[in-house]
Amino acid sequence: MLTVERLNQTYGPKQVLFDVDMAAGEGEILVVMGGSGGGKTTLLKCISGLVPIKSGDVLAEGVSVRTSPVEARAKMGMVFQYAALFDYLNVHDNILFGLRRRRKLSAKEGDRIVSEQLESVGLEGTGNLMPSELSGGMKKRVGLARALAMEPKILLYDEPTSGLDPVTAFAIDGLIKETRDRTKATSFVVSHDVNSALRLADRIAFLHKGKVVFFGSPQEFRTSKVEPILELVQKASAVAL
Ligand SMILES: Nc1ncnc2c1ncn2[C@@H]1O[C@H](COP(=O)(O)OP(=O)(O)O)[C@@H](O)[C@H]1O
Ligand SMILES: [Mg+2]
Repeated sequence: MLTVERLNQTYGPKQVLFDVDMAAGEGEILVVMGGSGGGKTTLLKCISGLVPIKSGDVLAEGVSVRTSPVEARAKMGMVFQYAALFDYLNVHDNILFGLRRRRKLSAKEGDRIVSEQLESVGLEGTGNLMPSELSGGMKKRVGLARALAMEPKILLYDEPTSGLDPVTAFAIDGLIKETRDRTKATSFVVSHDVNSALRLADRIAFLHKGKVVFFGSPQEFRTSKVEPILELVQKASAVAL
């Protein structure tokens, strides 16, 4: 369960999030959409504790990011936009990186976790490869495996399909759903890809100029008359043509 409560965020004098409220229940996929500059990345940074929150709060499984940042962060796993793998580490060591910082791991246990997580993302036997040997889609899969190794209750995905061709994007969306079904993790996905959002979401929130202008089901999103949503959907269909 992830709850964002009356969150306000500023950069210097500029306010970029205004009383943002939203919630994703256990095992739910919440997709946060919005055009460029809407505040999606800022929201994700606040949730993951990468920047201090100005006012309001984020609760991860009921734990406040404001007052208990370390404990709250331990509930969450982040899948970065460009996977953010360490170039000098092979896939095996990338996957274990966070876990090794948290606790001691025997070689055997490490091997078991890596092979389990690589299997769950469809990349069996790639532990010895270096990031430079991976395609864009494979990098995203390794990024997910690395987050999953920490067994988070909440998964945060930053633009999981950006920079991917449509076929790979479709496969990654499938993987996000499979992962949710298997782990029952609450999933928070930031995306500006309308098609991907409609495939994935149980709930959609739409951020425009730092405000939530829509929160509802994909069905309600499809028929929404909210101006910035109409604009984004129109742009998306223009690209699809
Ligand atoms: N580090 C920063 N310093 C100042 N302004 C920023 C910074 N990061 C983002 N902004 C501004 O905050 C607003 C929201 O940006 P962002 O959260 O990146 O939106 P999105 O991810 O939806 O494109 C934009 O107007 C952007 O220019
Ligand atoms: Mg962004």
